[in-house]
Amino acid sequence: MFQLIPYEKFRDTPSVRFFDITIANSNARDLVFHDGAATSPNNGSEGCWQFYMHAHQEDNLLALSGGRTFYLVNLSWKQPFHMVRLQANGDILRIPPGTFHRSVSDPDGSLVLNQAVRAAGANLETEFRVYNSAEIPLLLKATSQSAPPPRRHGFEQFQLRVA
Ligand SMILES: [Fe+2]
Repeated sequence: MFQLIPYEKFRDTPSVRFFDITIANSNARDLVFHDGAATSPNNGSEGCWQFYMHAHQEDNLLALSGGRTFYLVNLSWKQPFHMVRLQANGDILRIPPGTFHRSVSDPDGSLVLNQAVRAAGANLETEFRVYNSAEIPLLLKATSQSAPPPRRHGFEQFQLRVA
């Protein structure tokens, strides 16, 4: 299952934020900037959702600025489909290997740091392959209107903030 990981905030004031965001076993870092309401990976040509899925990498995602919604599908979970809000100053989202994931930024965009954990055998070409749900019947089914709706995490807070 995915996890939301809190971290130590030494100082959290309007003018200074000073946090320990260490993921102890991380051995790779990537940074993903979305300018505006970008979708990553983008939708397929026929409009179906596309996803990343890492066979040998755990993602640990922290929003440094802005907000982003992650769509997670793991066919081995009892409830396979989840939507998780990430926002600056919020928890780190840990996505285990084998989980299909895509993200959509808020209208003002977002900057997300990934403190990844790559296992032996990780190959950048295969780890960052894009999977089109149009070609994977079980993935398409899990995200279709006829499937149980996704479980939503962190949206209550978001709604309060924009109210
Ligand atoms: Fe990823």
